[in-house]
Amino acid sequence: MVKRVVISLGGFYFDDAARIKRIAAALDELAESSSRGLGLYVVTGGGVLARQCISIARELGANEAVCDYIGIAITRVNARLLISALRNAYPEPFYDYDEVAAVRTVEDGKIAVMGGVTPGYTTDAVSALLAEYINADLLLNVTTVDGVYEADPRKYPGARKYDRITPGELVRLTAREELKAGSRIIIDPFAAKIIERSRIRTIVLDGSNPRDIIDAVVHGRHHGTEIG
Ligand code: UTP
Repeated sequence: MVKRVVISLGGFYFDDAARIKRIAAALDELAESSSRGLGLYVVTGGGVLARQCISIARELGANEAVCDYIGIAITRVNARLLISALRNAYPEPFYDYDEVAAVRTVEDGKIAVMGGVTPGYTTDAVSALLAEYINADLLLNVTTVDGVYEADPRKYPGARKYDRITPGELVRLTAREELKAGSRIIIDPFAAKIIERSRIRTIVLDGSNPRDIIDAVVHGRHHGTEIG
Protein backbone atom coordinates (compact mmCIF):
# COMPACT_ATOMS: atom_id res chain seq x y z
CA MET A 1 0.00 0.00 0.00
CA VAL A 2 1.30 3.44 -0.94
CA LYS A 3 1.92 5.68 2.11
CA ARG A 4 3.50 8.73 0.48
CA VAL A 5 3.14 9.72 -3.14
CA VAL A 6 4.63 12.59 -5.10
CA ILE A 7 2.65 13.52 -8.21
CA SER A 8 4.39 15.61 -10.84
CA LEU A 9 1.80 17.37 -13.00
CA GLY A 10 2.85 18.51 -16.47
CA GLY A 11 2.20 22.15 -17.25
CA PHE A 12 -0.49 21.23 -19.81
CA TYR A 13 -3.05 21.03 -16.99
CA PHE A 14 -2.85 24.71 -16.26
CA ASP A 15 -3.90 26.13 -19.63
CA ASP A 16 -7.60 26.22 -18.75
CA ALA A 17 -9.83 26.30 -15.70
CA ALA A 18 -11.90 23.23 -16.61
CA ARG A 19 -8.79 21.05 -16.77
CA ILE A 20 -7.52 22.42 -13.45
CA LYS A 21 -10.91 21.66 -11.87
CA ARG A 22 -10.84 18.07 -13.14
CA ILE A 23 -7.37 17.33 -11.82
CA ALA A 24 -8.16 19.09 -8.52
CA ALA A 25 -11.31 16.96 -8.11
CA ALA A 26 -9.29 13.77 -8.60
CA LEU A 27 -6.61 14.89 -6.12
CA ASP A 28 -9.24 15.90 -3.54
CA GLU A 29 -10.93 12.53 -3.98
CA LEU A 30 -7.59 10.81 -3.32
CA ALA A 31 -6.98 12.94 -0.24
CA GLU A 32 -10.52 12.50 1.14
CA SER A 33 -10.73 8.77 0.53
CA SER A 34 -7.41 8.21 2.19
CA SER A 35 -8.50 7.46 5.70
CA ARG A 36 -5.76 4.89 5.02
CA GLY A 37 -3.26 7.67 5.71
CA LEU A 38 -1.92 8.70 2.33
CA GLY A 39 0.54 11.61 2.23
CA LEU A 40 -0.09 13.53 -0.98
CA TYR A 41 2.51 15.88 -2.51
CA VAL A 42 1.99 17.60 -5.85
CA VAL A 43 4.55 19.40 -8.03
CA THR A 44 3.24 21.68 -10.79
CA GLY A 45 4.94 22.19 -14.17
CA GLY A 46 5.13 25.38 -16.22
CA GLY A 47 3.46 24.42 -19.52
CA VAL A 48 2.88 26.68 -22.51
CA LEU A 49 3.01 29.87 -20.48
CA ALA A 50 6.48 29.03 -19.14
CA ARG A 51 7.75 28.22 -22.63
CA GLN A 52 6.28 31.46 -24.04
CA CYS A 53 7.82 33.62 -21.31
CA ILE A 54 11.18 31.83 -21.65
CA SER A 55 11.25 32.36 -25.38
CA ILE A 56 10.45 36.08 -24.97
CA ALA A 57 13.22 36.37 -22.35
CA ARG A 58 15.67 34.59 -24.66
CA GLU A 59 14.83 37.02 -27.49
CA LEU A 60 15.59 39.82 -25.06
CA GLY A 61 19.04 38.33 -24.48
CA ALA A 62 18.43 36.67 -21.08
CA ASN A 63 20.83 33.83 -20.24
CA GLU A 64 19.68 30.28 -19.43
CA ALA A 65 19.69 30.78 -15.65
CA VAL A 66 17.46 33.84 -15.97
CA CYS A 67 15.19 31.87 -18.29
CA ASP A 68 15.07 29.10 -15.69
CA TYR A 69 14.04 31.59 -12.98
CA ILE A 70 11.26 32.79 -15.26
CA GLY A 71 10.14 29.18 -15.73
CA ILE A 72 10.22 28.64 -11.95
CA ALA A 73 8.04 31.71 -11.43
CA ILE A 74 5.40 30.30 -13.78
CA THR A 75 5.44 26.87 -12.11
CA ARG A 76 4.72 28.68 -8.83
CA VAL A 77 1.84 30.57 -10.45
CA ASN A 78 0.47 27.18 -11.54
CA ALA A 79 0.86 25.90 -7.99
CA ARG A 80 -1.35 28.78 -6.84
CA LEU A 81 -3.90 28.06 -9.57
CA LEU A 82 -4.10 24.43 -8.45
CA ILE A 83 -4.41 25.41 -4.79
CA SER A 84 -7.29 27.74 -5.76
CA ALA A 85 -9.18 24.73 -7.13
CA LEU A 86 -8.37 22.26 -4.31
CA ARG A 87 -10.47 21.81 -1.16
CA ASN A 88 -7.72 20.06 0.78
CA ALA A 89 -4.50 21.94 0.06
CA TYR A 90 -2.24 23.94 2.35
CA PRO A 91 -3.07 27.55 1.42
CA GLU A 92 0.40 28.50 0.15
CA PRO A 93 2.72 26.72 -2.29
CA PHE A 94 5.96 25.48 -0.74
CA TYR A 95 9.22 26.91 -2.02
CA ASP A 96 11.74 24.33 -0.88
CA TYR A 97 12.03 20.65 0.01
CA ASP A 98 12.67 21.11 3.72
CA GLU A 99 9.54 23.29 4.07
CA VAL A 100 7.46 20.46 2.60
CA ALA A 101 9.16 17.80 4.68
CA ALA A 102 8.23 19.74 7.82
CA VAL A 103 4.45 19.55 7.30
CA ARG A 104 2.29 16.63 8.35
CA THR A 105 0.15 15.88 5.32
CA VAL A 106 -1.47 12.78 6.79
CA GLU A 107 -2.38 14.27 10.17
CA ASP A 108 -3.52 17.56 8.61
CA GLY A 109 -5.45 15.77 5.83
CA LYS A 110 -3.92 18.23 3.37
CA ILE A 111 -2.15 18.17 0.02
CA ALA A 112 1.24 19.91 -0.22
CA VAL A 113 1.72 21.76 -3.53
CA MET A 114 4.93 23.26 -4.89
CA GLY A 115 6.41 24.45 -8.17
CA GLY A 116 10.06 24.74 -9.21
CA VAL A 117 12.99 25.34 -6.89
CA THR A 118 16.40 25.86 -8.51
CA PRO A 119 17.68 26.74 -12.02
CA GLY A 120 19.23 23.95 -14.09
CA TYR A 121 16.52 21.35 -14.07
CA THR A 122 12.75 20.93 -14.44
CA THR A 123 9.89 19.97 -12.15
CA ASP A 124 10.62 16.31 -13.06
CA ALA A 125 13.77 16.65 -10.97
CA VAL A 126 11.96 18.65 -8.27
CA SER A 127 9.45 15.82 -7.86
CA ALA A 128 12.21 13.17 -7.83
CA LEU A 129 14.23 15.11 -5.21
CA LEU A 130 11.12 15.68 -3.13
CA ALA A 131 10.21 11.99 -3.38
CA GLU A 132 13.71 11.07 -2.24
CA TYR A 133 13.73 13.60 0.60
CA ILE A 134 10.41 12.58 2.13
CA ASN A 135 10.98 8.86 1.46
CA ALA A 136 7.98 8.59 -0.86
CA ASP A 137 7.16 5.09 -1.97
CA LEU A 138 5.76 6.21 -5.31
CA LEU A 139 6.53 8.97 -7.80
CA LEU A 140 3.97 9.60 -10.53
CA ASN A 141 5.09 11.64 -13.49
CA VAL A 142 1.88 12.77 -15.19
CA THR A 143 2.36 14.05 -18.70
CA THR A 144 0.82 14.24 -22.19
CA VAL A 145 2.59 11.13 -23.45
CA ASP A 146 1.46 7.67 -22.30
CA GLY A 147 4.89 6.57 -21.11
CA VAL A 148 8.59 6.51 -21.90
CA TYR A 149 9.53 5.88 -25.54
CA GLU A 150 12.89 5.10 -27.12
CA ALA A 151 12.50 8.46 -28.96
CA ASP A 152 9.98 11.32 -28.76
CA PRO A 153 6.80 9.81 -30.28
CA ARG A 154 5.59 13.29 -31.28
CA LYS A 155 8.57 13.48 -33.64
CA TYR A 156 9.03 9.77 -34.39
CA PRO A 157 5.60 8.12 -34.65
CA GLY A 158 7.15 4.63 -35.02
CA ALA A 159 9.09 4.86 -31.72
CA ARG A 160 8.73 1.90 -29.31
CA LYS A 161 7.15 2.43 -25.91
CA TYR A 162 8.60 0.78 -22.79
CA ASP A 163 6.13 -0.87 -20.41
CA ARG A 164 9.01 -1.13 -17.96
CA ILE A 165 12.49 0.35 -17.94
CA THR A 166 15.29 0.19 -15.36
CA PRO A 167 16.56 3.45 -13.85
CA GLY A 168 19.95 2.76 -15.47
CA GLU A 169 18.36 2.44 -18.91
CA LEU A 170 16.41 5.64 -18.26
CA VAL A 171 19.63 7.47 -17.40
CA ARG A 172 21.23 6.27 -20.65
CA LEU A 173 18.13 7.19 -22.67
CA THR A 174 17.86 10.71 -21.27
CA ALA A 175 21.62 11.47 -21.18
CA ARG A 176 21.58 12.57 -24.82
CA GLU A 177 18.84 15.15 -24.16
CA GLU A 178 19.62 18.85 -24.10
CA LEU A 179 18.84 20.60 -20.82
CA LYS A 180 17.88 24.08 -21.94
CA ALA A 181 15.26 26.21 -20.19
CA GLY A 182 11.79 25.23 -21.39
CA SER A 183 12.97 22.14 -23.28
CA ARG A 184 10.31 19.43 -23.70
CA ILE A 185 11.72 16.09 -22.65
CA ILE A 186 9.74 13.27 -21.11
CA ILE A 187 11.99 13.05 -18.01
CA ASP A 188 14.92 15.34 -17.53
CA PRO A 189 18.34 13.65 -17.21
CA PHE A 190 18.91 14.99 -13.70
CA ALA A 191 15.58 13.51 -12.56
CA ALA A 192 16.62 10.18 -14.10
CA LYS A 193 19.83 10.23 -12.03
CA ILE A 194 17.89 10.93 -8.81
CA ILE A 195 15.47 8.11 -9.60
CA GLU A 196 18.44 5.85 -10.21
CA ARG A 197 20.28 6.67 -6.99
CA SER A 198 17.26 6.54 -4.70
CA ARG A 199 15.45 3.67 -6.47
CA ILE A 200 12.06 5.35 -6.06
CA ARG A 201 9.34 3.38 -7.77
CA THR A 202 8.27 5.69 -10.61
CA ILE A 203 5.40 5.57 -13.09
CA VAL A 204 5.15 7.80 -16.16
CA LEU A 205 1.58 8.07 -17.39
CA ASP A 206 -0.74 10.08 -19.59
CA GLY A 207 -2.86 12.42 -17.49
CA SER A 208 -5.64 13.25 -19.94
CA ASN A 209 -8.03 11.29 -17.73
CA PRO A 210 -7.24 12.36 -14.14
CA ARG A 211 -8.98 9.24 -12.79
CA ASP A 212 -6.05 7.22 -14.13
CA ILE A 213 -4.01 8.87 -11.38
CA ILE A 214 -6.35 7.47 -8.72
CA ASP A 215 -6.13 4.03 -10.32
CA ALA A 216 -2.34 4.13 -10.34
CA VAL A 217 -2.04 5.29 -6.72
CA VAL A 218 -4.80 3.20 -5.14
CA HIS A 219 -4.76 0.04 -7.26
CA GLY A 220 -1.31 0.18 -8.87
CA ARG A 221 -3.04 -0.14 -12.27
CA HIS A 222 -1.85 1.94 -15.20
CA HIS A 223 -1.04 1.91 -18.92
CA GLY A 224 2.14 3.94 -18.66
CA THR A 225 5.77 3.01 -18.06
CA GLU A 226 7.04 1.57 -14.82
CA ILE A 227 10.59 2.62 -13.90
CA GLY A 228 12.14 0.20 -11.48
P1 UTP B 1 8.72 22.41 -16.27
O1 UTP B 1 9.02 21.46 -15.21
O2 UTP B 1 7.32 22.67 -16.64
O3 UTP B 1 9.58 22.05 -17.54
O4 UTP B 1 9.41 23.80 -15.90
P2 UTP B 1 9.29 21.18 -18.81
O5 UTP B 1 9.58 19.75 -18.49
O6 UTP B 1 10.10 21.86 -19.86
O7 UTP B 1 7.75 21.39 -19.13
P3 UTP B 1 6.49 20.41 -19.27
O8 UTP B 1 6.65 19.30 -18.24
O9 UTP B 1 6.55 19.93 -20.69
O10 UTP B 1 5.34 21.32 -18.96
C1 UTP B 1 9.45 24.88 -16.85
C2 UTP B 1 10.82 25.47 -16.91
O11 UTP B 1 11.13 26.12 -15.66
C3 UTP B 1 12.51 25.98 -15.34
C4 UTP B 1 13.14 25.21 -16.52
O12 UTP B 1 13.62 26.16 -17.45
C5 UTP B 1 11.95 24.45 -17.09
O13 UTP B 1 12.16 24.11 -18.45
N1 UTP B 1 12.65 25.30 -14.01
C6 UTP B 1 11.61 24.63 -13.45
C7 UTP B 1 13.86 25.35 -13.34
O14 UTP B 1 14.84 25.93 -13.83
N2 UTP B 1 13.97 24.76 -12.10
C8 UTP B 1 12.94 24.12 -11.50
O15 UTP B 1 13.10 23.65 -10.35
C9 UTP B 1 11.72 24.03 -12.21
